[in-house]
Amino acid sequence: MKEYIIATNNKHKVEEISLALGDSIKLVTLRELGHKKDIPETSDTLKGNAQQKAQYIYTKFGKDCFADDTGLEVEALNGEPGVYSARYAGDRCSFEENIDKLLEEMTGKTNRKASFKTVICLIEDGKEFYFEGECKGSITTERYGKKGFGYDPVFIPNGYGESFAEMNLGEKNKISHRGLAVENLVKHLLKK
Ligand code: IMP
Repeated sequence: MKEYIIATNNKHKVEEISLALGDSIKLVTLRELGHKKDIPETSDTLKGNAQQKAQYIYTKFGKDCFADDTGLEVEALNGEPGVYSARYAGDRCSFEENIDKLLEEMTGKTNRKASFKTVICLIEDGKEFYFEGECKGSITTERYGKKGFGYDPVFIPNGYGESFAEMNLGEKNKISHRGLAVENLVKHLLKK
């Protein structure tokens, strides 16, 4: 079975991606490798950050790996927080602080349209491959649900009556930005 390092320390992401990959591919986590440090992500694009994270881990461990980067683009905020979604409320801020800031910025805005975008960079034998996924939806005016992570409680995907944080992981994966990007990654990995 082929093995890939998943270049993230976010346990929710590992869980989501493992579920989507099924039993066909073995994922090695950074935790299993004893790597606890943050991976640098200093680019101003999702693609650049995904590449930077994947290259960092590939250089360090010399094994096939992939990394993803995700951003929430809100139309009424000119695409913010976008690539800065993790640090929207400041360096080292919590998911809760980011949501508070987003809801505050969105106060009184009638256009609630938003979109989650994910880019995955896979490095296999030193070669880079990219996979993308997008999920369109809208920003709520308050939190709904306790599952998931990040902005999940305030994002309702188009065509659904509940937020990502009210869905179980299987449901979220089927339609989410990362789920769709992982689907494209899996198609590539299973071609071999
Ligand atoms: P990352 O750089 O890919 O970890 O994503 C940046 C930020 O986007 C995270 O810190 C979360 O706040 C948010 N984010 C990423 N993926 C999701 C998701 O699936 N649901 C909600 N928020 C997410």
